[in-house]
Amino acid sequence: MSGNKRSTGYHGGSVDTVISVEAVTRQAAEIAQKIEASDLMALANDDPYIVLEDLHAGYGQMEILHGLNLAVARKQSLCLIGPNGAGKSTILHAIFGFNNIFSGSVKIGDGPQKRDITNLTAQSKLKQAGIAYILQDKSVFPGMTVEENLWMGGFLKDNPSQAKEAAEKVFEKYPRLAARRKHQAKVLSGGERRLLEISRALVMNPEILLVDEPSIGLEPRFIDKVFEILYDLQHNEGKTIVMVEQNAKKGLGFADIGYVLVSGELAIAGKGDDLLENPDVGRLFLGG
Ligand SMILES: Nc1ncnc2c1ncn2[C@@H]1O[C@H](COP(=O)(O)OP(=O)(O)OP(=O)(O)O)[C@@H](O)[C@H]1O
Ligand SMILES: [Mg+2]
Repeated sequence: MSGNKRSTGYHGGSVDTVISVEAVTRQAAEIAQKIEASDLMALANDDPYIVLEDLHAGYGQMEILHGLNLAVARKQSLCLIGPNGAGKSTILHAIFGFNNIFSGSVKIGDGPQKRDITNLTAQSKLKQAGIAYILQDKSVFPGMTVEENLWMGGFLKDNPSQAKEAAEKVFEKYPRLAARRKHQAKVLSGGERRLLEISRALVMNPEILLVDEPSIGLEPRFIDKVFEILYDLQHNEGKTIVMVEQNAKKGLGFADIGYVLVSGELAIAGKGDDLLENPDVGRLFLGG
């Protein structure tokens, strides 16, 4: 029919513009700034709720994070960006208790009297410390319906009746999920499943939310939806959010604070908006 309807490939960019992970890592290390603990405290309004101090952590005997400091205030959001393998997910793992911490500490709490949760197991993180972790993938129960998946958010916290109420609130807010509430989660599209995973955090009702790559694999419409839910969680529900996001533009645009992580160390830290304007960050992580 139409002779000019030819495939042009997935996107139009030239291969020359693709930088390897190694090159990004090297160049990012070159732009690394000296970051004082006091700078991080200032970004957290000098009133941090989560504090990581000189954290050395990794897997088995292998150290991935080399003396990491981090500070986030209550109801603030922090976005971690950096090259693949920099250790971004490892930071979330360390906060949640999924890996080995060799030295340093993870503390949470308001005011100077913080609780040391460095050695709290992942199993007790939600109940005892109010921390929920939204995994990069596959945290829905495929054989359960959408509503059962939401209720599970409450069972994890031993609070089934409140969970049902909270689930109804989610359905009121998100008609897309409401329309599928009796469907098994396995028939949802990838994007719908992501919405389910993230909105389940509203049912779990944690104080702190760790989110690994909320927008991964989603089309723009769903990315916006996901960030809407995160916005709701932070600004209306008062949650403190630490997220990792490959889509640095979205992540830094959303978050109050951004950290650039390179090879297990902080390279740059600043307000999200300032990092968006930072030419080095732009060149390496914002695609321009
Ligand atoms: N479960 C694990 N066991 C052993 N090594 C691991 C494990 N998870 C991650 N690593 C290693 O730790 C390093 C940091 O990985 P991490 O997943 O934190 O990187 P990342 O910054 O999240 O990267 P990406 O952007 O690719 O998700 C990598 O070298 C990785 O191979
Ligand atoms: Mg990761």
